[in-house]
Amino acid sequence: MNILIIDDNAINVKVLENILGKSFQCQPVSYLNPLKAMEWCATADPDMVFVDYMMPDMDGLQFIEAFRQLPDKSETPIVMITAAEDKSVRYKALELGANDFLNKPIDKSELIARTRNMWSIRQSQKQLQDRANWLDSEIRRVTKDIIEKERDAIFRLSRAAEYRSPETGLHVMRVALYSRALAKKINLPSEDQELIFVAASMHDIGKVGTPDNILYKSDKLDQYEFALMKLHTLTGYEIMQNSTSKIMQMAADIAIGHHEKFDGTGYPKGLTGERIPLAARICAIADVFDALTSDRAYKQAWSIEQAIEELDKQSGKHFDPFLVQNFKTLIPEISQIRSQYSAGRMGEMD
Ligand SMILES: [Fe+2]
Ligand SMILES: [Fe+2]
Repeated sequence: MNILIIDDNAINVKVLENILGKSFQCQPVSYLNPLKAMEWCATADPDMVFVDYMMPDMDGLQFIEAFRQLPDKSETPIVMITAAEDKSVRYKALELGANDFLNKPIDKSELIARTRNMWSIRQSQKQLQDRANWLDSEIRRVTKDIIEKERDAIFRLSRAAEYRSPETGLHVMRVALYSRALAKKINLPSEDQELIFVAASMHDIGKVGTPDNILYKSDKLDQYEFALMKLHTLTGYEIMQNSTSKIMQMAADIAIGHHEKFDGTGYPKGLTGERIPLAARICAIADVFDALTSDRAYKQAWSIEQAIEELDKQSGKHFDPFLVQNFKTLIPEISQIRSQYSAGRMGEMD
């Protein structure tokens, strides 16, 4: 039991120390000077406080007021010791946060009974606090668990979609990584950077609904086939819309918006400029850049320089110019991601 005593009268302090020390096998901390006691309280955590009312420099009321403002001291039991029968002092003390009173001269039995009461209050407080801390850490643990499970489910959904896509899982991973790097470059909050990383991996999930003869056709698609291919944006949106998950909400935005173009010539809605969700504008750059710099059935991979030239050419037309500008400053990081997640190193991923 950690008891604090503040009284400017050394004899009173001794009396309290003796009674409390013997009755509760504890060593109270005592101060004759309330200002010094206040200094001690800034770093210590007493279980209860006995404070005299009449003291120079700082009286008991002022002490209680200052003490209650210290962090984690709002509940600590305080007993004010007063000779004054003055009701107004007592009312004021109660108002400021005193829990009980002791009259001078100190009555031993009364002191012991009061201390016992304060101690049981203190113990309940501590138990409640422990319980609150435990609940808090449980909530954190469970929340983390839910987030991990959600991400796991999403990556599995993406993997399922990979079986329906002529592109590889590496493409999905690079687009996710490029998108996160760009989100970070333009200073999006770190939570959004992580959301976009997961959400961008699902940009083409709607291709699960695209017929095989269109999905795997190596020749140019005719008008009708292309119209069906375009539907993957809406299918992706259909799959992920109306979710309470922030990741799914962003993924739905990306699915429907990643083929929109800044000048309004994209699909499915022909949205312009900032009407296209930011996450979709980011993903569009990452997706096209990766398509250009990858080998496809119908073309060889372009060099990074050629791809950048194309982004520049399409800045303000296909792409958001602000994002192109920022993406270009990321080339060293982008090159590193590209070589780390290239087909030659695929085995290292699995
Ligand atoms: Fe797409
Ligand atoms: Fe893609």
